[in-house]
Amino acid sequence: MKKDFLYEGKAKILYQTEQPDRVVAYFKDDATGFDGTKRGKIVDKGVVNASVSAALFKTLEGHGIATHFIERISDRELLFEKLDIILVEVIVRNVAAGSICKRLGLERGQKFEPPLVEFFYKNDELHDPLIRDDHVLLLGLATKNEIEHLKKQALKVNHVLCEVFDKVGITLVDFKLEFGRTKDGTVLLGDEICPDTCRLWDKESGKVLDKDRFRFDMGEVESAYQEVLQRIGVLG
Ligand code: TMP
Ligand code: ASP
Repeated sequence: MKKDFLYEGKAKILYQTEQPDRVVAYFKDDATGFDGTKRGKIVDKGVVNASVSAALFKTLEGHGIATHFIERISDRELLFEKLDIILVEVIVRNVAAGSICKRLGLERGQKFEPPLVEFFYKNDELHDPLIRDDHVLLLGLATKNEIEHLKKQALKVNHVLCEVFDKVGITLVDFKLEFGRTKDGTVLLGDEICPDTCRLWDKESGKVLDKDRFRFDMGEVESAYQEVLQRIGVLG
């Protein structure tokens, strides 16, 4: 397949294919944290994240959620529909952890019922600030209808993924989604869904099985990623 370099991000490299509306994402082992101030590598992270993302996108498609995923073309490469990314990071939280604990003084582990949806402005220079619907409109990042769609889809994704992870003994604590528009303006779920972009805790022991192990130097980073892959792999 012919591939022309398009863009290199923190975790993936995007290539244009010969079809104008299709791109290949190559998943790297590079890991960053805290706005790119912490840098390192997680061996075979790219393979894990490509596999886990592919499996989860397929499952979501099976539940009627439209995503950019087309097919996996190698151990680290996924073929995606090309999207114009909406610069809003959509976070869904089932349990308090990470930034919300600091921001609101909440205790880690507190359950959110119903789950909480938050928007962050995807802008590294501004350190991805928390924003409200009004800010999304003010900044022209998405329309009113799109905002409602993002929220609805994010909660649907949460519903499906909670079940998927629950079946393999994992609590889906929180996660980040990105959406984008195709050429005709259809909004699809984009980016990736993997241990980089989710908080995943073992249901029994509470063991952290996600990128927090890298962020906070907790050790056993690679084995945690492999553990998630193995458990998700069980889904077939
Ligand atoms: P937070 O608690 O730091 O706001 O993160 C919430 C979720 O979003 C967590 O699962 C990690 C994920 N996340 C990303 O995927 N990319 C990011 O840049 C950040 C800050 C969080
Ligand atoms: N990946 C983000 C960064 O490096 C932040 C994070 O995941 O903690 O900026």
